[in-house]
Amino acid sequence: METVLSGIRPTGNLHLGNYFGALKNFITMQNEYNCYFFIADLHSLTTHPTPENLQGNVRQILAEYLAAGLDPEKATIYVQSDVKEVIELYLYLNMNAYLGELERCTSFKDKIRQQPQNVNAGLLTYPTLMAADILIHRAAKVPVGKDQEQHLEMTRTFALRFNRMYKVDYFPEPQAFNFGKNLVKIPGLNGNGKMGKSEGEGNAIYLADSPEAIRKKVMKAKTDSGPTEPNQKKPEEIENLFHLMRAVSKPETVQYFDDLYNSCQIRYGDMKKQLAEDMIQFVAPFSEKIKAYVSDKDYLDKVAKLGADKARESAQKTIRDVREIIGFKAY
Ligand code: TYM
Repeated sequence: METVLSGIRPTGNLHLGNYFGALKNFITMQNEYNCYFFIADLHSLTTHPTPENLQGNVRQILAEYLAAGLDPEKATIYVQSDVKEVIELYLYLNMNAYLGELERCTSFKDKIRQQPQNVNAGLLTYPTLMAADILIHRAAKVPVGKDQEQHLEMTRTFALRFNRMYKVDYFPEPQAFNFGKNLVKIPGLNGNGKMGKSEGEGNAIYLADSPEAIRKKVMKAKTDSGPTEPNQKKPEEIENLFHLMRAVSKPETVQYFDDLYNSCQIRYGDMKKQLAEDMIQFVAPFSEKIKAYVSDKDYLDKVAKLGADKARESAQKTIRDVREIIGFKAY
């Protein structure tokens, strides 16, 4: 059975980008694959070195995963820092990761711009920690959004390099994936190309959002003054609204507004109202369940413990093999 793995940083609630980019397909795979889903709390230290409420944030994501349909009896759901073998593999991979390739990574360059006051070694080696997450279970498939494509490419480089250096065929070449189609990039609402938790106020719609919060954010979304010629190409912020509508609305609804746009009759206010209502409908079943799970701390702790035990078992096997391959003595 093939192994599938995906993860998320606990630096904010789960938004529609996370859901469509990395989670939706994952849920349908729980029966057919050996699935791991984890919360990347170690990674979050690269941007939030002194988190105020790490345990609360981790629990929130755990509740959101369960609400989205992850089943702890089928998938292994765990917290990254509970599996210390990941840290050991991270160290070994760092020994064979080169400064040049780490510095060239786009996410590192972005972070230098975003947090020039804290360009730490963890940021530089973010891709090796991510590779360790994936390779510790020798995962073959990694459901992620488009923004993680380069990290997956680096993971393949590190895996192949390890195999070559130690003359083994041990690690698979993991592929970023979204059900055979292209990787997904869900746009944000404030004109930013990507929905994200650090992309500015009002940009993201969260699964836990209230109807009022959704209406407010959608109605504020950036638009232009409207098309002036039939079948005109849509500017980015308008294409973004259509993109979001395609994710949550019925195809007929999208077609209706697309026709209005193409005949220069569209009223963005109407389109946004419809989009907001469809988003509210979409998140409603999630937000109800999130509330219920968040209030059941004992159950969440039980899920995390079960996941940690299962994840450790798989990780320990890999670390035993890796130590032997590198040449450490086994006592
Ligand atoms: P993170 O926490 O930024 O996002 C979690 C997942 O959601 C996807 N995603 C999106 N997909 C489509 N459109 C968007 N607007 C959008 N925003 C976020 C991300 O691609 C990601 O799949 N480095 C990872 C966490 C991680 C990880 C891993 C993932 C650590 N180790 C190993 C997979 C495997 C991250 O920061 O994701």
